[in-house]
Amino acid sequence: MRPLSFAAAAGACAIVALAAVTVSRAAVAPAAAGVSTASITLPGDLSFQYKPGPGSVAASTYCLTCHSSAYVSTQPPLDRAHWDAEVTKMRKAYGAAIPDVAAAQIVDYLTASYGPSP
Ligand code: HEC
Repeated sequence: MRPLSFAAAAGACAIVALAAVTVSRAAVAPAAAGVSTASITLPGDLSFQYKPGPGSVAASTYCLTCHSSAYVSTQPPLDRAHWDAEVTKMRKAYGAAIPDVAAAQIVDYLTASYGPSP
């Protein structure tokens, strides 16, 4: 008997707590949008980063806005011409806003890091 009523009480508490969260979010959102930030790490995030190396910062800046680096890392090793075509496709066909200088760095980086072994 006692454990049952304890469970019922805990359930009631959980409902109250949920309601409280909902209320506080609703109260805070309009006034403080963008003021507080939070950082979360989703499962698998770390394995979807670009490999370190010259140009990886440009790749992380411009090639993670629409999809993860898995789109790159799951390709077979591609040579420069293929990576160049891929970056051009992202810019021309999909509208990726990447400055010329960064695009050139990214092609160098992808060829070195995700190309055929020398
Ligand atoms: C503006 C959004 C956007 C940006 C920025 C972007 N991509 Fe993509 N990417 C796409 C879309 C859309 C696809 C196709 C997705 C699909 O077919 O499911 C794609 C697919 C890919 C693929 C899979 C092969 C293919 O051609 O479909 C690779 C590799 C790739 N992107 C690499 C990159 C690289 C490298 C960068 C940075 C230079 C980049 N992407 C930046 C939108 C983007």
